[in-house]
Amino acid sequence: MPQTIARHPKALVAIHWVTAAAVLGAWASAEGGRAVVQNPPLVHFTLGLAVLVLVLPRLVLRLRGGGAQADSQFRPLAAATAAGHGLLYALLIALPLTGWYAASQMGVGVQVLGLDLPALAAPVQGRPGAIAEFHESAGSLILVLAGLHALMALWHQFVLRDGTLRRMSLR
Ligand code: HEM
Ligand code: HEM
Repeated sequence: MPQTIARHPKALVAIHWVTAAAVLGAWASAEGGRAVVQNPPLVHFTLGLAVLVLVLPRLVLRLRGGGAQADSQFRPLAAATAAGHGLLYALLIALPLTGWYAASQMGVGVQVLGLDLPALAAPVQGRPGAIAEFHESAGSLILVLAGLHALMALWHQFVLRDGTLRRMSLR
């Protein structure tokens, strides 16, 4: 008998993949320290802020009940999946905000599509503090988490053969 799979709404699926590409692009275009001050990485800022803009409708869709729930019968596994997704969501919000804050502390203006955004913090002398360090570490952590998350999805798809990837398919 063909298995019926609860799919995520198309809007959520589209946002998922555009966000994944933007996170990867933001990571690849990231720079640290003096390079940021001398030549602000506008591509990094723009892709990073796109992640923040996209997380809002995504959360609304999820909170309104859109999106299939993890369907593991084993409660601890379902809880671990929910916690993993929750952590990814937390980083999708915290990363752009801490990056914007760090840029402001470095006295670097954040410009997106020619538009100047307001500074989130006053400029500081020397190295910016803990928020900037958090941003740099979390910027790599999200990639590791997303990698593990992708491996889990592939394991479900090709070892458990439960059609998990089809839940995130646009077709
Ligand atoms: C930075 C990259 C990524 C982030 C931040 C991310 C984040 C998320 C989040 C938060 C969810 C929960 C559903 C939602 O609210 O949208 C999810 C679901 C999912 N993701 Fe990702 N993801 C990323 C990359 C990937 C990649 C590369 C793959 C595949 C190889 C993948 C496959 C899936 C699948 C299949 C689901 C649905 C799981 C289910 O409903 O049981 N994701 N992702
Ligand atoms: C998902 C989004 C983002 C990811 C994955 C990310 C990732 C990173 C990473 C890995 C670094 C360290 C680079 C290095 O040291 O070589 C970094 C640095 C930085 N990012 Fe982001 N970033 C994101 C969003 C943003 C946004 C939206 C802004 C500003 C509007 C921003 C501003 C900065 C600044 C100013 C630095 C330099 C911090 C320092 O040198 O102390 N980032 N980012």
